[in-house]
Amino acid sequence: MSNIKRIGVFTSGGDAPGMNAAIRAVVRASLRHGIEVFGIHNGYKGMISGDISPLSTLDVANIIQRGGTILGTARSKEFRTPEGRRTAYEQLQKAEIDACIVIGGDGSFTGANVFSREYDIPFVGLPGTIDNDLYGTDFTIGFDTSLNTVVEAVDRIRDTAIAHSRTFFVEVMGRGAGFIALHSGIATGAEAILVPEVEGEEENLFEYLRNQGNKPTNIILVAEGNNIGGAEQIAQRVKERFKELDVRVNVLGHIQRGGSPSAFDRFLASRMGVAAVEALLDNQRSIMIGWVNHDIAHVPLNKTIRRHRDLNRILLEVADILT
Ligand code: F6P
Repeated sequence: MSNIKRIGVFTSGGDAPGMNAAIRAVVRASLRHGIEVFGIHNGYKGMISGDISPLSTLDVANIIQRGGTILGTARSKEFRTPEGRRTAYEQLQKAEIDACIVIGGDGSFTGANVFSREYDIPFVGLPGTIDNDLYGTDFTIGFDTSLNTVVEAVDRIRDTAIAHSRTFFVEVMGRGAGFIALHSGIATGAEAILVPEVEGEEENLFEYLRNQGNKPTNIILVAEGNNIGGAEQIAQRVKERFKELDVRVNVLGHIQRGGSPSAFDRFLASRMGVAAVEALLDNQRSIMIGWVNHDIAHVPLNKTIRRHRDLNRILLEVADILT
């Protein structure tokens, strides 16, 4: 039996499509178990300022299909300080919140882990980031939707690339990780995929371009934060070497974060939201809810924060064979 009577839920860091579906699942699962739920607005920032209000089942009606997050999100510098965390704790006490569910990425989980070690408040994390770069889950909430957005955009770019016989460098998000680039590169049949996890990519690209013969069009997907530079810089170097190529650059940017979540992200967020509430009721704390081999997994927050998630080697091979 758990003593939890009031759960606080919040979204933190970069938003991701499906966060609303996760909030809805947390609220409805909590209410089903007779637990009150409070929304903490704008992440840790709102926790510190006490921007906290109750959520009813109606408050989360008609949000499963909406991108963004109804609770707002933020990155809080103040929460990184002991004083900020003390104020946050006092606000939670004032609102009589016994436990929290945080929907976010790496940075949000690091904050949760430190906080729940300092104060006796159980935390459960839900992986919400388009980057898919969290250890302990095959998929994060938002990744699938953002992939679909990228695929749609690249298909359109390919139409005009073919029409003009051009080489396009398309930059996609993923901070230091190549998941979006690799998966969307395979899905769009990109001619080359540049990810930060692979060494010697510039030489490989130059070799490919040298030997491409009469191929008139190319789509080259570049993960942002690539260690050989962003799409602009790489394209510049290619232009200098291959003067015959008609090169263009597209940085897809934040369109990858918005939009209505895919069926898979809604499903994943719903399953994970319910699992997070059940985990708290089961007296679990400091864990992330993951999705491993098509099922819910419980991963210690410590592990997901400390360990690095590698790109799937088989997918890299597939990309190598097909590009
Ligand atoms: O949500 C993760 C992410 O999309 C990263 O891939 C990217 O570097 C970052 O967010 C950019 O976020 P912002 O513009 O909000 O700082």
